[in-house]
Amino acid sequence: MEKRKTSARRNATPARPACRPSSAGRPSTASARRSSDGEDRSAAPSPSEPSTAPVPALTAPAPALTAPAAAARERWKPGTLIYPLPAVLVSCGATPEEYNLLTVAWTGTVCTNPPMCSISLRPERHSYEIIRRTGAFVINLTTQALARATDWCGVRSGRDCDKFREAGLTPLPSDRVEAPLVAESPVNIECRVRQRLPLGSHDLFLAEVVGVQVDPAYIDPATGRFDLERAGLIAYSHGEYFALGRSLGRFGWSVRKKSRPAAESRPAGKPKSKSKSR
Ligand SMILES: Cc1cc2nc3c(=O)[nH]c(=O)nc-3n(C[C@H](O)[C@H](O)[C@H](O)COP(=O)(O)O)c2cc1C
Repeated sequence: MEKRKTSARRNATPARPACRPSSAGRPSTASARRSSDGEDRSAAPSPSEPSTAPVPALTAPAPALTAPAAAARERWKPGTLIYPLPAVLVSCGATPEEYNLLTVAWTGTVCTNPPMCSISLRPERHSYEIIRRTGAFVINLTTQALARATDWCGVRSGRDCDKFREAGLTPLPSDRVEAPLVAESPVNIECRVRQRLPLGSHDLFLAEVVGVQVDPAYIDPATGRFDLERAGLIAYSHGEYFALGRSLGRFGWSVRKKSRPAAESRPAGKPKSKSKSR
């Protein structure tokens, strides 16, 4: 039925011109790589930024697309099924005595400029009250090496134990917020709460990113490139944790005409030459 609707709609719609690359695909100027606070981010471009470098072809054939008939689809009650998600370790607490960690999957980037992100917390979490009071937290990205601690911090409460100590994690002071960061994480994102929005089961904490610390072990000394893919990041999907797998292509590869011959290819690890923020 849905198929018929789609084709009827297609027939009624006047033909549109062929798609042109969006501005996100255009190379940017060097000044666009400089943030408003004057910090040079050229060594640490966002992984989703477009690149003018040649795009490697898919290394394995993609599975064929199939569209089952609409009637064959199951209807479920409304629920939260956006997957995969990150499963981050959120750290909080103004003093070592109250330092705490909890695992959060309801998290995301919500704005580029100013850089903002969100976490959604149930008010019954021990961390909730700490974050509400201090207005601060740190999002620590998680890796395969942190997978066990990530799960554990999501099933134990800081009311009952010192999670940093019991999970074998090291708290370090943040530069700009009243919350510790996790030294074992490759990326620590220091967040200052700007708004708290009660939604129902969860409150959304909208926060501004006021500082970022990264593990220099992932910075290529020769090129300055931040090789985050070497960190072994994990994702959370439908109740399970996954190691991220092979790359399927760089941002924008679907619209690139063809990659240059191998001899002209960008050497591995060389930083992207030009990019534009999203
Ligand atoms: C993978 C995973 C994701 C989770 N995501 C959230 C979340 O987004 N929001 C939330 O309030 N709790 C979430 N939790 C549950 C809390 O991490 C858990 O209740 C934790 O024990 C709370 O710790 P606290 O009481 O010390 O704050 C998640 C747990 C796991 C294992």
